[in-house]
Amino acid sequence: MTPQSLLYFACVISLIFGANGQFNRVHLTKLQALDCPEPAITLNIFSGTPNPSWKINKEQLLSMKKMANDALLNSNNKTTLNKLTTRVMGYQGFTISCSAEQSVFIHGLYPLEQLLLRGGRRHLSTSIVVHVKNHLGEVMSDLEDVRDDNANCNHVPIRGPDTVPAYDPSTDDNGCFITKQSENNCYAYGTDIVTNTFPQPGRGSGKKWSFNTCTDMGNASVRDGLVYNGTKLPTAPPEKGHFVALFIWPDTNFHWIRMDSNGYWSHKPGGTAVRNKDNRGLPITDPTKSDFSPWTQYCAYFVAQPSKLQVN
Ligand SMILES: *[C@@H]1O[C@H](CO)[C@@H](O)[C@H](O)[C@H]1NC(C)=O
Ligand SMILES: *[C@@H]1O[C@H](CO)[C@@H](O)[C@H](O)[C@H]1NC(C)=O
Ligand SMILES: *[C@@H]1O[C@H](CO)[C@@H](O)[C@H](O)[C@H]1NC(C)=O
Repeated sequence: MTPQSLLYFACVISLIFGANGQFNRVHLTKLQALDCPEPAITLNIFSGTPNPSWKINKEQLLSMKKMANDALLNSNNKTTLNKLTTRVMGYQGFTISCSAEQSVFIHGLYPLEQLLLRGGRRHLSTSIVVHVKNHLGEVMSDLEDVRDDNANCNHVPIRGPDTVPAYDPSTDDNGCFITKQSENNCYAYGTDIVTNTFPQPGRGSGKKWSFNTCTDMGNASVRDGLVYNGTKLPTAPPEKGHFVALFIWPDTNFHWIRMDSNGYWSHKPGGTAVRNKDNRGLPITDPTKSDFSPWTQYCAYFVAQPSKLQVN
């Protein structure tokens, strides 16, 4: 975080927890005074990571000022325009800002929050849009179409076949490793199950892994239903399911690679895109010979049969 954004963050916090978070005349006056070519919108929603933020232009700011003004006038000058909520987690409101000093917190002004959310759609994941929409209420029914676009990726878990999967991220599990890229990791992709939970070995079967070691991570995955297959490179496909390989970044992190029907291996590092190359850009024929640094420790092969796994 830059010093400016820290200041800004502190400012937002004080606004959120200030005596009056609901949009009122004071906020309106501040909003009308905002003036800069590229105001920033921040959706105040996360606790652990930076909030989503994007830029708007002067015309958009103008229409927001107008909307806020009209909405407040039409409300018989009441200070609030939606139900007061006591939510402390998740959606808190939006911030429109030109600088740390010039920023306005928006909450409790339905029409404007609607407008802000619509404008932010393409910067936000579906789950966030749906969360804010649910918070704001049914008024936002036209946001349903965003949801519909991704509906088949929201009905999790989505399991691949018990045969060896094809390497084709656009069709694999309905393309949901792309649509829901940030919510599915190497374990989801390796086991070929879309969970949208960034699944962790062991968690689905009741006890998440404890240590970033081959034995602990291996045992956690076996509890989830993976079957240990030793350390020798498989040559033929298993009777059911497909092969995965476990790698460890010692004491730090884990990684999974899977074998596809073309005989090559592919993987999905964390929330990044699915790929079929290693760090050197080479196709993966023998995972132990590929470069997956910093996941340098190769552990073993396992058989993953999607229908039999408890992955979450
Ligand atoms: C709201 O208050 C403003 C002045 O503060 C006044 O001009 C306006 O007529 C009022 N609107 C309504 C609907 O009462
Ligand atoms: C499970 O743990 C035991 C004991 O630590 C170890 O011998 C075994 O290799 C582990 N299994 C896997 C699949 O790593
Ligand atoms: C690994 O899987 C193959 C194919 O199913 C099987 O023939 C082999 O015996 C397995 N190896 C181990 C060590 O389980």
